[in-house]
Amino acid sequence: MIAASILSADFTRLGEQIAEAESAGADWLHVDVMDGHFVPNLTMGPFVVEACRRATKLPLDVHLMIETPERYLEAFAKAGASTLIVHVETCPDINGTLKRIKALGCKAGVTLNPATPASDLGPALNIADQVLVMTVPPGYSGQKFMPEIISKVAEIRRWLDEIHSPAWLEVDGGITAANISRVHEAGADAFVAAYAIFHHPKGIAAGIRSLREQLCK
Ligand code: DX5
Ligand code: ZN
Repeated sequence: MIAASILSADFTRLGEQIAEAESAGADWLHVDVMDGHFVPNLTMGPFVVEACRRATKLPLDVHLMIETPERYLEAFAKAGASTLIVHVETCPDINGTLKRIKALGCKAGVTLNPATPASDLGPALNIADQVLVMTVPPGYSGQKFMPEIISKVAEIRRWLDEIHSPAWLEVDGGITAANISRVHEAGADAFVAAYAIFHHPKGIAAGIRSLREQLCK
């Protein structure tokens, strides 16, 4: 799965850019929600998710980089999120939070920062529909991929396979045509990309095509 992250889109033309990503074969649209506390940057809220919902039929993969995400789960679910992804660092009761997301009718995703060990996921792996491994410190698009996180992807892949989990294993941060195959080989099956898609010199469709070509080799 390729999840096009609108963080690098041109927001004066968001609807057009989303339509272009959809017709170029993006599988999901990734929306990065930041609160200026958990991460230094501030971005979008339910209002933008609701606008994206009207602009596309693609599933909306909503990544909550916010403190106490429980406060906003219902608002994002109502806005049309398909998957709500919460950081394990922000959820003292991660299992309870994932169950709450499912009760709201969304798929439940859990994610972790590069510095957080995979073992912190614990039993949440049994509940999650999606596990997102951050391959940059969250906060900004256009950062450099951290190759040392590939072993964490492989470790989580093994654990998911051991428990026969059907969860997607997604990676986020610095994904390009030059590194996507390596992360795929380590066991990831969903890939977020912002810069590589929305800032591709030949345009959005070419950005998606160049990632897809590497996956289909
Ligand atoms: C980073 C966000 C990412 C970001 C990825 O904090 O979670 O989803 O949009 O951007 P690129 O692909 O440019 O690294
Ligand atoms: Zn993200």
